[in-house]
Amino acid sequence: MIKRPIHLSHEFLEEVLDGEAIAVDATMGNGNDTAFLAGLAKKVYAFDVQEQAVQKTTERLAQFGLTNTELILAGHETVGQYVTEPVRAAIFNLGYLPSTDKTVITKPDTTLSALSQLCDLLEVGGRIAIMIYYGHEGGDMEKDAVLGFVKELDQTLYTAMLYQPLNQINTPPFLVMIERIKG
Ligand SMILES: C[S@@+](CC[C@H](N)C(=O)[O-])C[C@H]1O[C@@H](n2cnc3c(N)ncnc32)[C@H](O)[C@@H]1O
Repeated sequence: MIKRPIHLSHEFLEEVLDGEAIAVDATMGNGNDTAFLAGLAKKVYAFDVQEQAVQKTTERLAQFGLTNTELILAGHETVGQYVTEPVRAAIFNLGYLPSTDKTVITKPDTTLSALSQLCDLLEVGGRIAIMIYYGHEGGDMEKDAVLGFVKELDQTLYTAMLYQPLNQINTPPFLVMIERIKG
């Protein structure tokens, strides 16, 4: 069956992860992506502004016995304060966490700040996957901001791709993929 964007986001990162790699989950939420990355990488830094996300993710990681993570209760825009090593893979799941406070959403300014810092931290061959959910209020603006930023990336340093459902009703999430090709 044709791949959903969310599945492709994991496969795209899985291809470059190994036991030497540093990874970043920019939007921890319930910890699905943190657990996925931690199963493949040497270390994962995960960010969220909600205490509940840290709790849920702590529980999820414990279930899998994963201990190679640093869960940070702070916005991803502070990534540069916590991560100084070259990054092999990073993931963003934009929007809000289903089943929690729908007013806590990712925002254009902070998302672009984190994205820009992570593009700088990315090692050659490193990748960033951005799942863009934009059906909620403010989502459209963030989508446009992210697409605008990515389209301006220097093509001699980064390759960027889009994977998007074309015939689904409403506003299905889509995937933006970035790879660093030169230091
Ligand atoms: C779509 S959810 C992420 C889902 C998550 N990847 C998972 O596997 O469950 C978006 C998350 O981004 C978080 N968030 C909002 N603003 C943020 C920021 N500035 N930095 C980091 N996380 C933020 C929200 O609290 C929410 O948990």
